[in-house]
Amino acid sequence: MKRRQFLKNATLSTAGLAVGSTLIACAEDPKTNKPIITNKTAATLPIVIATWDVKLATETAYKVLENGGNALDAVEAGCKIEEANEKGQSVGKGGLPDRDGNVTLDACIMDKNGNCGSVVYLQNVTHAISVARNVMENTPHVMLAGKGAEQYAYELGFKKENLLTEASKKAWEKWKVEAKYKPIINIENHDTIGMIAIDKNGDISGACTTSGLAYKMGGRVGDSPIIGSGLFVDNEVGGCVATGLGEEVVKTVGSFLVVELMRQGKSPQEACEEAIGRIVNKPNSDYKNFQVGYVAVNKQGETGSFGIHQWFSMTKYQDGKNENIQSKYIVKA
Ligand code: GLY
Repeated sequence: MKRRQFLKNATLSTAGLAVGSTLIACAEDPKTNKPIITNKTAATLPIVIATWDVKLATETAYKVLENGGNALDAVEAGCKIEEANEKGQSVGKGGLPDRDGNVTLDACIMDKNGNCGSVVYLQNVTHAISVARNVMENTPHVMLAGKGAEQYAYELGFKKENLLTEASKKAWEKWKVEAKYKPIINIENHDTIGMIAIDKNGDISGACTTSGLAYKMGGRVGDSPIIGSGLFVDNEVGGCVATGLGEEVVKTVGSFLVVELMRQGKSPQEACEEAIGRIVNKPNSDYKNFQVGYVAVNKQGETGSFGIHQWFSMTKYQDGKNENIQSKYIVKA
């Protein structure tokens, strides 16, 4: 096969065709060069998936899509729900602080064209995801950190807020007594919020936001603002977001790995499982003492999720149904 024809076929075989609100898988018949339409993997659009049990966030994102909004608007709106939820102590306002009592946020966002923006170690601003979107859309950069990110947020009109709520302050004070300032790896049951959406046009975007590992060392940054680790989207293939111990995700460039495995033909479920395998199968992996989870969707609208520990789950909104689904796992609770 000539190289040009091969590339053409490769592109078509991973693409999908949005018909009305249904995505139909298509490939090209090599003999006739005509598209073969199959509904084998047909999925109803739009779709929203997210890490953990965040039904209000997925509902918010889905409503944006139902009203004709695009996937980028949807994932931003969904993540903002959790950033504003003070009860969630691992994202946005109310997030657990570092060991010095500072709440520092990391977030990133990626659109259908492969554009991305992120903020790292952002303080005093609740909606890190919106600042990340502004970095992507309105600056010549992809990443802003610390004081520079905070200063940029104020220039955009974001207001300065104290992100350390009474509940998180109390938890930190208790930790200080017990831990003696030693950073720990904690297996939490609620962590980074990552979200991927496919809109009615079949276009994919993703977002990821976190306050990071509780009681981390000052200056610590995890996977969530790192494009390819915490989040990756390729509009030809699909998208993936990660949650859990960022250090382990970064070491395997987890979300990029999942998308590349899907590009090679693996289903989202198989890709998530292999990416977790790369972490737990390392020599001397301490995986029984940390959590990592992935959720992924491919261009055909198939979804998958996998976590190291049993209590990881994915929330999925599709066909008018918003459900939290227990992910497959390695270690039983
Ligand atoms: N996944 C969040 C973090 O490790 O910071």
